[in-house]
Amino acid sequence: MARFKVTCLALVAMTLVYSTTLCVAHPVGFNFGWGWGSPGGNGGHGGNSGNGGGGYPGLFPEYYQFSCPQANDIVMSVLHKAIANNPRVAASLLRLHFHDCFVQGCDASVLLDDSATISSEKNSGPNKNSLRGFEVIDEIKAKLEEACPQTVSCADILALSARGSTVLSGGPNWVLPLGRRDSTTASLTGSNRNIPAPNSSLPTLLNFFQRQGLDEVDLVTLSGGHTIGVARCVTFKQRLYNQNGNNQPDSTLERSYYFGLKSVCPSSGGDNNISPLDFSSPARFDNTYFKLILLGKGLLTSDQVLLTGNVGKTLELVKSFSDDEGLFFQHFAKSMVKMGNIRPLTGLKGQVRKNCRRVN
Ligand code: HEM
Repeated sequence: MARFKVTCLALVAMTLVYSTTLCVAHPVGFNFGWGWGSPGGNGGHGGNSGNGGGGYPGLFPEYYQFSCPQANDIVMSVLHKAIANNPRVAASLLRLHFHDCFVQGCDASVLLDDSATISSEKNSGPNKNSLRGFEVIDEIKAKLEEACPQTVSCADILALSARGSTVLSGGPNWVLPLGRRDSTTASLTGSNRNIPAPNSSLPTLLNFFQRQGLDEVDLVTLSGGHTIGVARCVTFKQRLYNQNGNNQPDSTLERSYYFGLKSVCPSSGGDNNISPLDFSSPARFDNTYFKLILLGKGLLTSDQVLLTGNVGKTLELVKSFSDDEGLFFQHFAKSMVKMGNIRPLTGLKGQVRKNCRRVN
């Protein structure tokens, strides 16, 4: 770390332009000595903490300190306006980072549009007609390209936007390792295979998270991202009309909530009607998501099974987080860093895209 700063300072003294170009290229060989661990993860929960989450060679919080010190301010100013205008933007951007990281790592592959060489992940089952926020990312990228050309990656913009969105919605802040580079490929099949479906059982959810190096604490914690935003009727309809193939509703749904949902989500049609994931405070990042689950008012099967799934300690975690918002916030910060560290491209791998929608 010291070597990095000294080198960059010397360059800053030479010229600002040089320092910009060279400082970002420099971290290639940096190794903080914590090793790579399992794909994207580090085995145990919270293993990234204590060192500012920088336990990965090439990713560290001060990455843009010299090359684009205003990067986070630019991200935050765009977010501030966009979220004030429409609070749901925060939820959509938080989800974008998740859908990026679960498919070939946090490499902004999710942002690539269809082209001669790219089958866009935007057309996968989980993403089509569902993922949002791309225009906000475009605006951030355009501003960053003006301020610091070809310096801040789209993958880092997603990570910064997820953190900023959380903070601006009232949630926790965290120290964010940076230095991800952008992929030159996307994986439509990876997107169809690696993002869990809303009707998943608890063992399935655990398995999908484990494949990314995330554990059951991460699963419960990160599901708390559903404290903001909405879901379409088509994602929870099965629970209302035919949960187990017997034309009966999900018995774990609280009755009055069930009747309310039926009015938004009829048995036929209305697939794009929306309902808040946390109806008591849909734009506020807080722990009511967990309180609602305890009351049988989780919107998706994947939310409610954290309480009823009867595997591991997820039930206890839901209870702990509903009792103690501070505990949830601490864990959320840790698990977001862990998710953000899934298989990043660093060093000479990938590129810094000029436009997040296409490769250079
Ligand atoms: C545990 C497995 C998960 C499943 C099965 C799941 C599923 C879903 C579904 C089906 C929707 C609604 C999509 C639509 O109707 O178009 C949604 C929305 C959302 N998800 Fe998840 N999700 C999971 C985990 C996560 C994680 C880890 C995060 C972030 C940390 C997250 C953040 C969000 C947010 C913020 C929204 C609202 C988006 C908006 O309003 O635009 N989800 N999720």
